[in-house]
Amino acid sequence: PASDARARSDRRPVIIAHRGASSHAPENTLAAVDRAAGLGVDWVENDVQRTKDGTLVVIHDDSLRRTTDVERVFPGRSPWKVKDFTAAEIARLDAGSWFGRAYAGVRVPTLEQYLRRVEHNRQNLLLEIKNPELYPGIEQQILKLLGNEGWLDRQHLASRLVVQSFSARSLRTVHDLKPAVTTGFLGSPAVRELPAYAAFTDRINASHGSLSAGYVSAVHALTGPHGRRMGVAAWTVDDAETARRVAGYGVDGVITDKPDLLRQAFQGC
Ligand code: G3P
Ligand code: CA
Repeated sequence: PASDARARSDRRPVIIAHRGASSHAPENTLAAVDRAAGLGVDWVENDVQRTKDGTLVVIHDDSLRRTTDVERVFPGRSPWKVKDFTAAEIARLDAGSWFGRAYAGVRVPTLEQYLRRVEHNRQNLLLEIKNPELYPGIEQQILKLLGNEGWLDRQHLASRLVVQSFSARSLRTVHDLKPAVTTGFLGSPAVRELPAYAAFTDRINASHGSLSAGYVSAVHALTGPHGRRMGVAAWTVDDAETARRVAGYGVDGVITDKPDLLRQAFQGC
């Protein structure tokens, strides 16, 4: 019956495109965001860091080396740390060719450019503050930009934005500065420690290997800082078997490089 189908689909985890649709297009670029949109995926995850001259940029590693041609363009600047390059220098880099010739010339986006594209596509954002210990004050700076770009209005706060980090300290700072923001802790604290996390985080976003049905229930039993049941997402889930396993535990979200594969895996769940 229709009600059974609805109950089943309500239990399906939300699919979140890790670094954009990163098995289809170069990670953390506007091309990866657009590719996720093309696949009908309405949540994208990214990683935010900061340039030498204070611009927020979207990139995963603390070095530019793996995902750009920085070695060729700036051969003398080893180890090519994001924090040691200006925004103008980073804007010169090719962040697409390493992935495939079709993406030659794709750039490392600024967070401003990224937010505008995600908004243009009517997508939602799981924003990771990456390596916050390298960038003092980055939480405040991210919140300021989010506010300027319209991402802290009621609608975005209610359902379109989650800020996550491996750093509990960074998340606590976000929560203290702007309590209305939904936050997610990256990791899997011991069950006895979860109540302390519930004071400042709404979600536990854990590596799939660390999850179990019992752990997910323990998180769900808690109420987060906004008075809602705490949620769980699993990363990085790139095969159907793992996807079905964590869905069986009752996770609320899955973070994946392969959103199309996961959608298929959940058909009929
Ligand atoms: O969103 C979860 C995942 O992104 C955390 O790991 O290294 O891909 O940022 P990483
Ligand atoms: Ca990430």
